[in-house]
Amino acid sequence: MNKIGVLTSGGDAPGMNAAIRAVVRAGISKGMEVVGIYRGYNGLINGDVKPLTVRSVSDVIHHGGTLLYTARCKEFRFEEGLQKAKKTCIEHGIEGIVVIGGDGSFRGAADLSARGIPCVGIPGTIDNDISMSEYTIGYDTAMNTAMEMVDKLRDTSQSHDRCSVVEVMGRNAGYIAVNTGVACGATYIIVPEIPWSIDEVCDKIKRTRETGKHHFIIVVSEGVGNSGEIAKQIERNTGVESRATILGHVQRGGSPTIRDRVAASELGYYAVQLLSKGKGNRVVGLQKNQIVDYDIQEALSMKKPFEFDLYKIADEISF
Ligand code: F6P
Repeated sequence: MNKIGVLTSGGDAPGMNAAIRAVVRAGISKGMEVVGIYRGYNGLINGDVKPLTVRSVSDVIHHGGTLLYTARCKEFRFEEGLQKAKKTCIEHGIEGIVVIGGDGSFRGAADLSARGIPCVGIPGTIDNDISMSEYTIGYDTAMNTAMEMVDKLRDTSQSHDRCSVVEVMGRNAGYIAVNTGVACGATYIIVPEIPWSIDEVCDKIKRTRETGKHHFIIVVSEGVGNSGEIAKQIERNTGVESRATILGHVQRGGSPTIRDRVAASELGYYAVQLLSKGKGNRVVGLQKNQIVDYDIQEALSMKKPFEFDLYKIADEISF
């Protein structure tokens, strides 16, 4: 390939810039031209494409967000949108594309690959919910941010003898919740993957109180939601004053951790190797610290196991 494009799509994730940098530098090292496609698939539909040079990606490895901007693009789900995107690729001479994003973005990459523009996906989402990869870019930074926030909440909960109900992101997946809960010594972790009841949560608080503890952290995954209502019910049922905090989009920002920067650099580099061999319709990921790649459809049909063992440990050691 002589010319490839790179785009970021879906929710941003810290480390996306490091991945863009790796794609640009690896592409140029292989003698290819690299263009940036702006605001996800919208950039392909609208022809918002600009050349990226070695220096376009200087001084970005440590920044959160994405220099290419990002978006979720409804138009790309329809044939008309896909044909417009293909036309842009032909007009700009783009022979392959690296797509950094989540499941939804990979569906678009598969559709475009099927229309003759080979795409390679890189898992970039704080949720860690891509089944073919044990790790997704942004996950570690988001968890560290959540952990820091919960540590701060602990200070004030402790001072007031309160219960802090903290809602963390993750869409329908509880990975951020379970890891943050373990790291912050949460009394109870509520995730969509595991059945729970308010009575169980309150019983655990009461039992823990009997051992002399007066402040509590309850981590709730966004897929469960209702953290405000959960806090009210805890207060009513246990008499412990409770406050709910939704951490929200703060978890998506900030300077990426070393793990995110390294994973992004490796995955970006490897995605370009695939395109340079003419391979498309693939997703690259990490399994047992090794880089692997799968057919996109196969990757999308895979199921990721939940961390039940970690959840059990958390349950047994937090009282
Ligand atoms: O997929 C990343 C994520 O932050 C999820 O955790 C969350 O459910 C969603 O995106 C929020 O999306 P938006 O930024 O569109 O509100």
